Amino acid sequence: MSAVPSPSTAAPILRVDALTLAFGGVKALNGVGFDVQPGSITAVIGPNGAGKTSLFNTISGFYRPTAGSVQFEGADITRVPAPRRAAMGLARSFQNIALFRGMTVLDNIKLGRHAHLKTNVFEALFYVGRARREEAELRRDVEECIIDFLEIDHIRHASVAALPYGLRKRVEMARALAMQPKVLMLDEPVAGMNREETEDMARFILDVRREWGITVLMVEHDMAMVMDLSDHVVVLNFGQVIAQGRPQEVQANPDVVRAYLGAGDVSTLRAKLRGAAAAA
Ligand SMILES: Nc1ncnc2c1ncn2[C@@H]1O[C@H](COP(=O)(O)OP(=O)(O)OP(=O)(O)O)[C@@H](O)[C@H]1O
Ligand SMILES: [Mg+2]
Repeated sequence: MSAVPSPSTAAPILRVDALTLAFGGVKALNGVGFDVQPGSITAVIGPNGAGKTSLFNTISGFYRPTAGSVQFEGADITRVPAPRRAAMGLARSFQNIALFRGMTVLDNIKLGRHAHLKTNVFEALFYVGRARREEAELRRDVEECIIDFLEIDHIRHASVAALPYGLRKRVEMARALAMQPKVLMLDEPVAGMNREETEDMARFILDVRREWGITVLMVEHDMAMVMDLSDHVVVLNFGQVIAQGRPQEVQANPDVVRAYLGAGDVSTLRAKLRGAAAAA
């Protein structure tokens, strides 16, 4: 798709407002708010335990927030169940890969497609009748489009359990794409990847946005990738947004530098962030 909306002018496709999530005494999220503009690549960063995955789980409906709201395309979806959110167009991957390991790549991707069609991934495991008639369209969609796009044709019949980590991550992304999302949520898409795998994944993320106009919301620790790809960066620390803005603004923010280093060597991280920007 050619007409990607300008990130700064459109109404937000996703709005997180004053989200609070408590686990017993621990506030994993404490008044988190930000907008995701349509067609943008928005990154959520922050130190370990900052609340990034909790945020993803709350946005996708796996956790119910203690307070605050999640709005998708202008509608309040805070109380909408997770499978329904997925069918509405919020698809996600997981920090720890959540594929069906005993199944093939293709079957895993089909599950994503069925989740979209029927809103129930488990029902899709036993699909009959109507869903069967959708098989032809399904094959065309899945095999010709997503598998080609992600360059996983050579492994379509391979068992997921047998694949190296980088490829499994790619299959997980394929499954999320099979849901035909409006917003693709990626939790640490390049964690554990080598440089080549990371570069491939970065290219796929850019292409997802450019070719299909899909908005991307990602959690990522790889600073070079975040600075390179993102239009907007949200920084979490101890469950709160401590900074947000364009990558250059965020990396110059002293609070961000401090959050990453604690009381440590600020100049080292500054140099690292600058290096990441220069490499972009
Ligand atoms: N299911 C849970 N039960 C209790 N506490 C939890 C649960 N999930 C997360 N927490 C706590 O909430 C806080 C935020 O955790 P979260 O996993 O969201 O952080 P994160 O930013 O994703 O970290 P990482 O970078 O290590 O993935 C932590 O203090 C964590 O221990
Ligand atoms: Mg996490």
